[in-house]
Amino acid sequence: MDLWIADTEALELDRHLEQLLPLLPGFERERALRFRKREDRLRCAVGRVMIRALAAKRLGRADAALLVSEYGKPYFAQEDAPHFSLSHSGSLVVLASAGTPLGVDVEVCRQMEWRDFSSLFSGEERAMLESAEFPLACFYRIWTVREAFSKAVGLGLSLFEAAGAEINYRAAAASFQGEEYRFRTWEYPGYTVSLCAHRAEAEPYWLTAADWDLLEGSLL
Ligand SMILES: CC(C)(COP(=O)(O)OP(=O)(O)OC[C@H]1O[C@@H](n2cnc3c(N)ncnc32)[C@H](O)[C@@H]1OP(=O)(O)O)[C@@H](O)C(=O)NCCC(=O)NCCS
Repeated sequence: MDLWIADTEALELDRHLEQLLPLLPGFERERALRFRKREDRLRCAVGRVMIRALAAKRLGRADAALLVSEYGKPYFAQEDAPHFSLSHSGSLVVLASAGTPLGVDVEVCRQMEWRDFSSLFSGEERAMLESAEFPLACFYRIWTVREAFSKAVGLGLSLFEAAGAEINYRAAAASFQGEEYRFRTWEYPGYTVSLCAHRAEAEPYWLTAADWDLLEGSLL
């Protein structure tokens, strides 16, 4: 299992945009260029390059075909390809990959009124929030776990409209239709990251500037 975290603020906006965009297939490049702000273009390009680097590493070809499920989940067309999950927030982009389905979510933690969102949560989640010493940190943990779980199953947020989706925060476990998942959460200054997978055993790896040169090299 791999869990890669990239901080686009550590990259040079213009230089890296110029270097990364040509590495992408035309339709992915166009998608990145649809963003008006250059920071958003870079964030989008970084995510796609990370997926391409995963394809190069695990499948031996950076241009492996990608498909998108009816719920919006991207996946490699090739049957024995790794599963992956992508998330962006603030300046961070996170890519998780493994041999079985998994989901990852990163959120930038802003001061906000978490009670505005309580109608989205279960009774257990509301009780956790009400009794938490640090409710905002608890809110982002719950939020990212829900997102990561919904991505692992692949249904997006419609997972929580379906019967039988259960999260047990004490056991760091979740289940849906007989599939059991584990989850883990990491807190960084200003960000929360959650991973949900059959075995959530990865340790996050923060990509460095040197890694970017290597990644680019592996895609050329
Ligand atoms: C789309 C969604 C799966 C995640 O969106 P998000 O948190 O806003 O954005 P993220 O960057 O974390 O995730 C987006 C990525 O998830 C992936 N994704 C999209 N749909 C997916 C699905 N059904 N299953 C798994 N992954 C999916 C894609 O790779 C997408 O990135 P891409 O479009 O660049 O390929 C969905 O959960 C959503 O609409 N969230 C809205 C936020 C919200 O209301 N959250 C409430 C939490 S309680």
